[in-house]
Amino acid sequence: MFKADWIKPKKDIGEVCPVFLKKFNLSSNVKNATLIISARGVYTAELNGNRVGDFVLAPGWTQYDTRIQYQSYDVTKLLSDNNEIKITLADGWYKGRIKDNFLEEDYTSLFPERECAVIAEIAIKYLDGTEDIFKTDESWLCGESNIRFCDIYDGEIYDASFDARIDEKTVVAENNDKSVLVEQVGEKICEQERLKPIGLITTPKGEKVLDFGQNLTGYLEFSVNASKGEVADFSFAEILDKDGNFYTGNYRSAKCIYRYICKDGEQCHKPTHTFYGFRYVRINEFPEKDIDLNNFTAIVVHSELKRTGHLTSSDPLLNKLFHNVIWGQKSNYLDVPTDCPQRDERLGWTGDTEIFMKTACYNYDVRRFFKKWLGDLRIAQSLNKFGAVPSIVPVSNVTNSGGAAWGDAVTVCPTELYLMYGDKTFLKENFAAMKKWVDFITNDTKHKHLWIGGKHYGDWLELAAPYGAYKGETRDDLVASAFYAYSTSLVIKAGEVLGEDVTEYKNLYKTIREEFIKEFDGNYNTQTEYILSLWFDLAKDPEKTADELVNKIHRDGDKMQTGFVGTPYLLHVLSKFGYNELAYKLLLKKDYPSWLYPVTMGATTMWEHWDGITPDGKLWPDKMNSYNHYAYGSVCDWVYSVAAGINPVFVKPGFEQVLFKPTPTDMIDSLKAELDTDYGKIISYWYHKDGKIVYEITTPTDAKAVINGEIHRLKPGKYVF
Ligand code: BGC
Repeated sequence: MFKADWIKPKKDIGEVCPVFLKKFNLSSNVKNATLIISARGVYTAELNGNRVGDFVLAPGWTQYDTRIQYQSYDVTKLLSDNNEIKITLADGWYKGRIKDNFLEEDYTSLFPERECAVIAEIAIKYLDGTEDIFKTDESWLCGESNIRFCDIYDGEIYDASFDARIDEKTVVAENNDKSVLVEQVGEKICEQERLKPIGLITTPKGEKVLDFGQNLTGYLEFSVNASKGEVADFSFAEILDKDGNFYTGNYRSAKCIYRYICKDGEQCHKPTHTFYGFRYVRINEFPEKDIDLNNFTAIVVHSELKRTGHLTSSDPLLNKLFHNVIWGQKSNYLDVPTDCPQRDERLGWTGDTEIFMKTACYNYDVRRFFKKWLGDLRIAQSLNKFGAVPSIVPVSNVTNSGGAAWGDAVTVCPTELYLMYGDKTFLKENFAAMKKWVDFITNDTKHKHLWIGGKHYGDWLELAAPYGAYKGETRDDLVASAFYAYSTSLVIKAGEVLGEDVTEYKNLYKTIREEFIKEFDGNYNTQTEYILSLWFDLAKDPEKTADELVNKIHRDGDKMQTGFVGTPYLLHVLSKFGYNELAYKLLLKKDYPSWLYPVTMGATTMWEHWDGITPDGKLWPDKMNSYNHYAYGSVCDWVYSVAAGINPVFVKPGFEQVLFKPTPTDMIDSLKAELDTDYGKIISYWYHKDGKIVYEITTPTDAKAVINGEIHRLKPGKYVF
């Protein structure tokens, strides 16, 4: 446990980020040295002028009032005889506008006012066996850093011309609240890629705009030769409007400033305590008249995740969709799975997370990432006296429920993680929380055995809605009751894996199903209503219901009308009930509404709305319009598991056994899915050749392959059918 104190500036330095400093000498030859450090806010540390570690926005974002991660760094090689450690602190997610925006009064009244602070210890072991420890306390100095302003939503102002001298003892040390500190649980956030601009655009308004060719999360690095006091100033945007002008309306109140005041000479800079979601950068002011593209780099930042899944097909537009889904995940897996990375939101919406979960697990190894987030989710749930799971984690309030499909993240995410990775601890750690959620619904509903009433997001952003509306015609009560059944079924599955007695939940499930059929079956209004009833096995006559869904889709002009909740299951349901060709038709459709429509409009990430930009160039209203929202990217789990047919098996999860069930089509020539698992690489590749379909399958473990209706038992190896 930390022996150090939390330290914070004694003087109010307003919006300026403080920097803390300590000089120390070593008494002997060092064997090894470790820095353990954390912050209420986000920190960077420098030892003798060298940045410690590569964690961006450390210590990450957790349910801060209950737990804050600390990091350990081996700093042996950075030490010399006389040392100086500097720690710069910014509000990060802990304070500032994001906190003001999302924390509600019932939460803030429960937890006292937040004050940013840092805590650090350098533990030295000498070769002679003696030890030293240098820790944050009242002896540290504090001053103003060059970062004159920094905020997650509003960006950074950096004054390189400011002489950041630190020569006063101006810290307050507090010895409280160290119990919140926990060792790093999640993945660290790191700089992952560097992109060069693909062009410099002069817009019709005459503005100079850098185009990085890819919507992303990160920041801009630039170099310049300038005189002291000259300014480099930038703005960020995801898209250009229909006239080709820079468009920032959809960032809402997020100012996303990046302003740099130069010192003399050659210099290079990037923000260090904030991030931006952007493809385009407008150069508002720059010391050099001629813009040299070589001097600008977009640095892509996200949680350190190993890529595991790859999809490629013969259709370039489909490949672009796969690319966009990957970039949606990269852009929004920044320590917390967020809805979007650009506007004044960037929050851990549970519904978005739940919807995308399976795709996320195919694309990347997200085990550690979710171990952390689910920990915060459980804390959030425990703060709610009724056991409700909130709509956002880290949570914004302690009274509301996230409602159907959002709160169900607590049952869906651990189940998918277990299935995809075979790690029982996901179920063990979350089982009590899963049950608590189902029990919460049981107590919350106005109707025994259905979830009637309560606040829900419905089939969020479905198309069966007036233009600009968030919610459509799908009934909340139906969505809620369907998810009540689904979550109960997941509690049963988890309980069985864990050897728990789930009789109570089995009875409950049976009754929910009966009541659902009584209340809703045969009386569906929207595509999503059909889809949920079918996918969660709640229709009395599934074949007939599936036929009706298909008729409904035809009546809707062979167009999907689904939102966040119906979309992830749409193609699954069609394929399951024998309408695979219609599933492909919807997947490959190029006109609005469809997955490929945004691709034809030049999208490089997933849009929040099917009609984020209409064919005539109209943008969805600024009030809620993101071009980097991964939710609809959930379609990729259908591509991996149905189209390419790579499936885990519940009794041998984590791909200890594989079920191959590819379902090809004549609409594309080929599809290949590759997946790295703990057992090795799985490949499913099908293509048309000489009027036939060839299947190439590689399995690292025992597998079952269903090819053209025939079952093949496979040992590890490569097979061609
Ligand atoms: C977010 C969504 C989220 C929704 C819930 C929005 O503002 O961006 O993705 O799930 O609210 O209502």
